[in-house]
Amino acid sequence: MSPPVNGETTQDGGVSVTINGNDFRVPDSFAATTLATFLRVHLGLTGTKVMCREGGCGVCTVHAEFPDPSGSGKIFKRSINSCLTPILSCNGWKIITVEGLGNQAAPHPIQKAMADYYGTQCGYCTPGWVMNMYSTLNSDSDVKLTKKRIEDATDGNICRCTGFRPILDAFKSFAKDDACKDGLGVDLEDLPDKMCHKTPGKKCSGKCDHKTVVRMRRLPAEVQDDVPAYHKPSSLDELYKLASSLKDQNVYYLVGHTGIGVYDDGPYDALVDMKGIKDLFGQKKSGNSLYIGAGVSYTDFIHTFRKEAASAGFEYLEQIADMVNKTAHESVRNVGSCGGNLVMKNLHQEFPSDLFTCLVAVDARIHIGPDNKAFSPEEFLAVDLKGKIVLAMELKAMDGKQFFRTYKVMPRVQNSHAYVNGAFRVKFDAAQKGKRVLQDKPAISLGNIHAKFIRAKQTEVFLTGKDLADVSVLQEALSIMYDEIQPEAKLDEADPEYKKTLAVNLFYKFALEVVGDLADSRFQSAIGLLPDKRPISSGQQDFPTQEENWPLTKPIPKIESLIQSTGEATYVSDIDHEGVLHAAFALSTEGNATIFKIDKAPALAIPGVLAVFTAEDIPGTNSYAPRRQEREELLAEKKVEFHYQPVALVVAVTKEAAEEGAKHVKVEYMDIQPVITTARQAFKKKLFFEDKPEEVVDGGDADKAIEKAARKVSGELELSAQFHFHMETQCSVAYPTEQGIDLDAGTQWPDGIQDCVSQVCGIDKNGVNVTVKRLGGGFGAKISRNNIISSAVALAALLVKRPVKMHMSLWDNMKSIGKRSPYYVTYEAGFEESGKLLGVKMDLYGAHGAQKNDSPYREIKGWLDNAYKSPAWKINLWKCKTNTPPNTHCRAPGSTEATYIMESIMEHVALSLNKVPIEVKQLNFYKDGDKALNGSKQISLRVTEVTEQLLKEAQFEERKKVVEEFNSKHRWRKRGLAVVPLRYPAQWSLGFNYSCLVAVYHNGGTIAVTHGGIEMGQGINTKVAQVVAYEMGVDLSMVKVHATQAIASANSFTTGGSITSEIACWAAIDCCKELKKRIEPVKKHDKLRALGREPEWKEVIEECYDKGIDLSARAWIAPKTKEPSAYYTNGCTCTEVELDTLTGEYQVNRLDVLYDCGESMSPFVDIGQVEGAIVMGLGYWLTEEIKYDEENGANGYYSTWKYKPPMAKDIPIDFRVKLLHNAPNPVGVMRSKLVAEPPLNMTCSVVYALRDAINAARIEQSGKDAKRVFQLVTPVTPERAQMFCGTDIRQLRYQA
Ligand SMILES: Cc1cc2nc3c(=O)[nH]c(=O)nc-3n(C[C@H](O)[C@H](O)[C@H](O)COP(=O)(O)OP(=O)(O)OC[C@H]3O[C@@H](n4cnc5c(N)ncnc54)[C@H](O)[C@@H]3O)c2cc1C
Ligand code: FES
Ligand code: FES
Repeated sequence: MSPPVNGETTQDGGVSVTINGNDFRVPDSFAATTLATFLRVHLGLTGTKVMCREGGCGVCTVHAEFPDPSGSGKIFKRSINSCLTPILSCNGWKIITVEGLGNQAAPHPIQKAMADYYGTQCGYCTPGWVMNMYSTLNSDSDVKLTKKRIEDATDGNICRCTGFRPILDAFKSFAKDDACKDGLGVDLEDLPDKMCHKTPGKKCSGKCDHKTVVRMRRLPAEVQDDVPAYHKPSSLDELYKLASSLKDQNVYYLVGHTGIGVYDDGPYDALVDMKGIKDLFGQKKSGNSLYIGAGVSYTDFIHTFRKEAASAGFEYLEQIADMVNKTAHESVRNVGSCGGNLVMKNLHQEFPSDLFTCLVAVDARIHIGPDNKAFSPEEFLAVDLKGKIVLAMELKAMDGKQFFRTYKVMPRVQNSHAYVNGAFRVKFDAAQKGKRVLQDKPAISLGNIHAKFIRAKQTEVFLTGKDLADVSVLQEALSIMYDEIQPEAKLDEADPEYKKTLAVNLFYKFALEVVGDLADSRFQSAIGLLPDKRPISSGQQDFPTQEENWPLTKPIPKIESLIQSTGEATYVSDIDHEGVLHAAFALSTEGNATIFKIDKAPALAIPGVLAVFTAEDIPGTNSYAPRRQEREELLAEKKVEFHYQPVALVVAVTKEAAEEGAKHVKVEYMDIQPVITTARQAFKKKLFFEDKPEEVVDGGDADKAIEKAARKVSGELELSAQFHFHMETQCSVAYPTEQGIDLDAGTQWPDGIQDCVSQVCGIDKNGVNVTVKRLGGGFGAKISRNNIISSAVALAALLVKRPVKMHMSLWDNMKSIGKRSPYYVTYEAGFEESGKLLGVKMDLYGAHGAQKNDSPYREIKGWLDNAYKSPAWKINLWKCKTNTPPNTHCRAPGSTEATYIMESIMEHVALSLNKVPIEVKQLNFYKDGDKALNGSKQISLRVTEVTEQLLKEAQFEERKKVVEEFNSKHRWRKRGLAVVPLRYPAQWSLGFNYSCLVAVYHNGGTIAVTHGGIEMGQGINTKVAQVVAYEMGVDLSMVKVHATQAIASANSFTTGGSITSEIACWAAIDCCKELKKRIEPVKKHDKLRALGREPEWKEVIEECYDKGIDLSARAWIAPKTKEPSAYYTNGCTCTEVELDTLTGEYQVNRLDVLYDCGESMSPFVDIGQVEGAIVMGLGYWLTEEIKYDEENGANGYYSTWKYKPPMAKDIPIDFRVKLLHNAPNPVGVMRSKLVAEPPLNMTCSVVYALRDAINAARIEQSGKDAKRVFQLVTPVTPERAQMFCGTDIRQLRYQA
């Protein structure tokens, strides 16, 4: 290691680490600092992002190179999560961050591919993805870099914006099996570690000293001493001595330190880094046993297991490798150790360890020091590990007649703990024809049943010596198993009944494989797990472009995509100037109570905490709601109305100290009342904000129409909440100024921020300035909810007279801030035998939370009819009050739910008539001239045309037959197909007013733009730049779009409703027109005419300047339309799913969407919006679930461990997106139509496709008269999908 060049020079222990070629000496006082914090805060390398801080999102991924701790001499090269890694554990490591790869002048090929393939939207996840790919390409592993390998390696990174497809395409261009489509494929041999910073495009030769000057910022003095001791023993003896001396302390014996992402049992008195102890990292074979040191990482022991599986007696290791390859994700597995995992199981016996479940079934031994005793996995759980060290796991060779399989069923395909995991082993004599007599006691190990349940002992005893091929034996075994499994009911776990049936069904799958050909081939189709067979995904994109109008309509990457890929794009959360203080909320621990007393003292005693503020410290009005809305308390004054409501604000020198302080604010409550957390409960208890519902009545008398109708249906629906999962959590920084407060705010609505800050701080609105450069995702969460954060930091800055930042932890963000409103809905519809609607009634009970300011009802009647005409409507909109955070806008708020409700009614009508749903839907389509529910006259509707085209292009009729055929051949696997059309009104005149300012500069003629919209990934800046370049007739590179500013864009409305891009472009066009009016006459000036040629743009501008012409123009657009809707967009989606009816696992085999974007101004941007909306919708309908504790109202789903947005392998396997051709919008801005939100409304097709599959399963079970599923509760998680299939043990057979 070369001598330290940067940072501390004191030799106080500490460690040496090299970051992007710079060496640092980091002292022991950094014991509580993660690598992510070190990079971002202490080195200012903010390209690496943080979000969850628990290994669950991947934005913090960096590349690490370090010597194999076993001493082999090999250098490991791997991705790691910097949020989980203590900086002190990186001793001797080389870390490469996104800044170390390249920059916009000289990007690395991965960074370039990410931009060229349109792999970025908000860009907050992008550096993490780039580093993931960099590590995959530069890994020490010998696995071939195929497309499959690349898809497998994406298991640790989430992108909420793009829908993953373009990222996968970008990365697959590096695959060895790719045909280098588009010529972007890169020869791996030529891939540089690093690009030359002096000569763009050239590989770094390493000859010149390119080290950047990086100063390491010290820890604030206030927190330097408040850190655990950090020990680095280098031998087992030293470790044992240490362990004995620390016996009474809370010690973290770390290897990967990834366990902290699951359980934080801190505060810790000491950290003991065991990576210097070679004995813990070896692996050896001795006699009949394979020993794996406890420190060996998952990546390494999986590799060893796969290799050793070739040796006689160890074949079973391949199965364990398969199972643990699904544990966490690659960046965790790269450093996370087997010993760490087993100790977590010992300390938290409810932990669903995949490894432990396997070890139980193969009778492994776990060796523990200092006594070096070996224990069976069951015995191991009883060992008190205080002062003890896990040394190794021992796996013995098994005789060849053993049959062993492992299973893990998860809520989504990647990176999730198991609903239930299982490892089953039997021994039988295959020579006995037609029989599978079990020779020894089988092993049936199951995980995540409950803390004390390890194996199905009674079933094991019953099966011993029995013939598993005998169906009566099988069924009795399954019954015994069903009875002996008694899962614990828990808020944040699957229903016990699901776990019971899942465990039984997994064993049935196993039995089917054991009996092999003795089972009917239709039944054998159940063997294995569906996600294991998932093919590589691919996408098709089809869009029109008008070359004559380029750069308008030209498919270009977002203008920021390269700086997002290189990590140079900065976000509010990246701002961390020296001297900025940090704030965190103390949250209530009751959901409906009166505050008796708040004690600040314990929080103030935490080192680094400077101040604690409560409601009484607020100088202005205690409300973050803009003045026109109802009061919403920033800090609870007397009553808390929901669990995790902010009650105090803590200010400290570091974020960590603020968060720790917040935990220590002591609040006493009185008058604690029961809580109501669901819409259904609120409906039952009649807890409404207003006594009467808002009524929407149209046409005739809906009651009568339904009563008289030949056919009727009625039903109810339940829809869950959805968390936005913006990758940059809520964040703002406030600076006290001589005039008031300036803010860098993570908001979609600067005007709203000015309002609430001026109100809370008691200053005039003109004393508050707000700047917004970009957001790391918004999805509606930052329309009004950033007011909370901005008001808080402004208040703190005002009171402490220093800049204050709050970058909310994901947990606090999920706990205390509202989400998409959940609903309970009842409906009735009357119709003719043909399916033609006569009357529709709906009662919507939307759980608004503790406040109703962001009610989704404002525009809902524009969507509740979707594309369908009914002569009579009666709709009641009930605003339910619940003890949950006030719910808020979430991408396509109201319209997503409204479309689903209406589509569910249409599907119900069709199913009740035994008709194909899309046919009944088509029968009821609005036509031009019809008046819709919101009063708009329908003009230029394309829903019929778009639906017909989609049905044809998606080959709906043909595929319906293929689905039926598939279903007839598979007993336990069913496919389903569904189509959802869309008619979506663009509602321009709801106050969506925006400004734009375009400035042309002399000395070159370059153009700067600032507009009233907010760039949050939707590509507004790209569209505005394209429009300005087109209008001014200059190259796109001449235009730069700057941050939105509350002064330049005064009074602009919130960015939302999908229409801001259009209106901001409209304002930009007006600016350009005005400028052209001023510039055009100058072209005729003598000076320019004298040139004898067409003057260049810069010459014209120079002349304008000389003549004193104002070269900047501002425009304000406040669109007003006669009809409630300016125009309609249409779309149609066809979704095909495949369902494993035994586990509930499913996959979207294919999804086709045809969307009318008019003349898309920027096709890549719009395709990206469609894909992103679709995948966010799939998450909403399938895997994203939130449940609240019925006792105290606490959200039980506030972490990435529990909340599951889709990942790269949850997207459609075949994903086809097409923008309608030849469809200019006569009233649209530049003939375009809105996008962003409407495609999300069509994603409910996945629910009906699943129901189609579930009904096929039900018909298979009970014949044609089977009770079909009409009502669904969403999300249709695998748990719900399986339970809807209603399989029972009597059906688990080998033959029909
Ligand atoms: C995002 C994420 C998802 C995950 N998903 C899964 C999953 O699906 N299934 C699953 O089974 N696991 C899962 N895990 C857990 C993961 O497997 C463990 O975090 C990892 O194996 C722990 O190894 P480590 O070396 O990082 O342990 P560390 O974090 O270093 O240590 C963990 C604990 O073990 C103690 N310890 C470590 N080694 C020893 C030793 N040799 N002797 C005594 N004490 C020791 C430490 O004191 C600490 O209490 C997940 C983790 C994360 C972060
Ligand atoms: S911040 Fe590290 S994985 Fe989410
Ligand atoms: S671009 Fe991936 S989260 Fe926004």
